[in-house]
Amino acid sequence: MIFAAILAGGIGSRMGGTDTPKQFLTLGNKPVIIHTIEKFVINENIDMTIVLTPKNFINHTKNLIDEYIGGNDDIVVIEGGETRNDTLMNSINYIDENYGIDDESIILTHDSVRPFVTHRIIADNIDAARKYGACDTVIPATDTIVESVNGETIESIPVRDYYYQGQTPQSFNIKKLYNLINSLTEAETNILTDACKIFTLKEGDVHLVRGEVTNIKITYPYDLKLANTILDDNHD
Ligand code: CTP
Repeated sequence: MIFAAILAGGIGSRMGGTDTPKQFLTLGNKPVIIHTIEKFVINENIDMTIVLTPKNFINHTKNLIDEYIGGNDDIVVIEGGETRNDTLMNSINYIDENYGIDDESIILTHDSVRPFVTHRIIADNIDAARKYGACDTVIPATDTIVESVNGETIESIPVRDYYYQGQTPQSFNIKKLYNLINSLTEAETNILTDACKIFTLKEGDVHLVRGEVTNIKITYPYDLKLANTILDDNHD
């Protein structure tokens, strides 16, 4: 099976100014999270979409899905975790408990606040996760990267051609991810907060999938303004 996990367990503290996590703010004529969920639900290759939200937003999310997408057996809303990685783990545990972990199944994990993921990106993630076991969606870094440990002076300026900006989805063979996460010590679990990082350090190759500059993550209020502009452009 092909699962999509929509990671919506965060509270959006950098967005500020509201008690409503940013994934529930309005973009165009519907909440950000609905734009994102729709991309996966209408994709015929995705068998099951698991949406993970803070506990007190589960019912709200279910109501939004009923309102904007309609009753759908292929979407489930469950509780996220304290950290983004905990949220990811909750999706893996849900799959384990309800479907079992087989050799073939893959999971696409996607930030709820990246509503402009494209079907091309989703298709490339499915292909790469099947073929290589793990992949990460990236775009080439456009600004020069400057490394500074103390925040005051430069350590190094790496060659930009070797650097990329990470987006999502990050996609995996579920069995490999499950075994890998269960093999970590508690100390490793606390340090390795990114699933692709765990794969890179422990398992081997994580394949690169080309993202899009428009596949932005809504983090700050400015990003929501930018998202509205991208939405208008897409409709032109
Ligand atoms: N996320 C999650 N579970 C968490 C934390 C984050 O599922 N415990 C999700 C967010 O909901 C978001 C995505 O991970 O869709 C990207 O994280 P980020 O932009 O950092 O979201 P927040 O943690 O909500 O934002 P902030 O750091 O500003 O509080």
